[in-house]
Amino acid sequence: MPLDLAPVPEELRGLRIAVLVSGGIAAYKIVDLASALTQAGCEVRVAMTPSATRFVGPPSFQGVTGNPVLTGLWPVDGSPEPHVALGDWAQLIVVAPATANVIGRIATGRSDDIVTAIVLAARCPVVVAPAMNDAMWSKRAVQENVEALRDRGVSIVEPESGHLASGHVGAGRLAAASQLLKAMVEAVQSRYDLAGRRVVVTAGGTREPIDPVRFISNYSSGKMGFALAAAAADRGAHVTLVTTASHPAHRGVDVHPVETAQEMLDALGEQLKGADVLVMAAAVGDFRPARTATKKIRREETPRFTLELEPIPDILASIRSDKELAGVFRVGFAAEDSELDAKAVEKMKRKGLHAIVANDISRRDIGFGSDDNAGVMLFADGSRHELEKMTKREMADRILDLVLPKLSGEKGAES
Ligand code: CTP
Repeated sequence: MPLDLAPVPEELRGLRIAVLVSGGIAAYKIVDLASALTQAGCEVRVAMTPSATRFVGPPSFQGVTGNPVLTGLWPVDGSPEPHVALGDWAQLIVVAPATANVIGRIATGRSDDIVTAIVLAARCPVVVAPAMNDAMWSKRAVQENVEALRDRGVSIVEPESGHLASGHVGAGRLAAASQLLKAMVEAVQSRYDLAGRRVVVTAGGTREPIDPVRFISNYSSGKMGFALAAAAADRGAHVTLVTTASHPAHRGVDVHPVETAQEMLDALGEQLKGADVLVMAAAVGDFRPARTATKKIRREETPRFTLELEPIPDILASIRSDKELAGVFRVGFAAEDSELDAKAVEKMKRKGLHAIVANDISRRDIGFGSDDNAGVMLFADGSRHELEKMTKREMADRILDLVLPKLSGEKGAES
């Protein structure tokens, strides 16, 4: 049966796609799909259930993708957990053909073969294309499993009606490749809504040296900034994280470690060129030592010690006055212990921000070091959005949800 392989849509080009094949006759069609995706510039990795390998040999997939094919859960190529590695790696997963058996096992959270284990370890959108006999497809058990997958956000590409391998005519034939590609694009677009955007995030408390072993800083853990960077990267943005804090970096985030406010400002000057959004989650100090001792200050040499401090320039204010960076949508943070709204609005105006996220540091259950946060997001256009208590990662996504409609259509700069 010839495949109607329409050109691979632009939206899929360059993506890391895991193609998971289960044991149906339509498995042979997926060789063409894997080949077309690879030729369109996608990086394609294939995993097959043991019964899929009885329909199509792994070397066919290896040949068209140029990558080894996973057929079992046991380590290959030194990767201790191939299913986790592939689940982490993939930006899109396609299960095609998906048999009634594999759908049932995905629906019940099984992970006893490489295909179901990868789906369970996935962090990206999953598209499932069922293919089976019409009687099997029509059974309530199968339909309920399909419904369960839909409820959990899996995209289902309905099978077509037509001549089936069993000789029957009915619904159950693997959807046409054009339908599969369409579902893949939709899955990508809904998840990667920041694709093509450049997002710069700052994180952590700045550190101002007193001498080579001591510094002035604050309690900021950097968790909110790291959560924002991770969320933006997961949504397809090109993300730069300028940070004083060091946590494990999220896949795809470009990390620029800095220490002082001046280093942060210098790094931002470079990184913000052509950026769409700056989210200034760092807790930048207000004062720094007027002088930094070049040698460790010793107790016996300085029984009394007075530290003279000078103000640190406002980073957001300098960015505002840089004409080259005028197109960047600027979001600030404000940690306040009272009159949240009033102080945040004043800060937003003073720093020329497009938006500000204010959180209440008098609350002990949120903020510094905590995994949760809560507050309010205010925009220069007067809109106000309550951010009820949630994890910092959830708040990061909420902030991005609110910023996204404010960005201009043109990627690479905002007006
Ligand atoms: N900020 C900045 N440069 C500074 C200090 C703060 O860019 N030198 C940024 C922070 O990253 C944050 C926002 O300004 O996004 C608000 O920070 P905050 O410390 O609350 O503001 P301050 O101007 O320091 O005001 P105050 O200390 O009076 O509350």
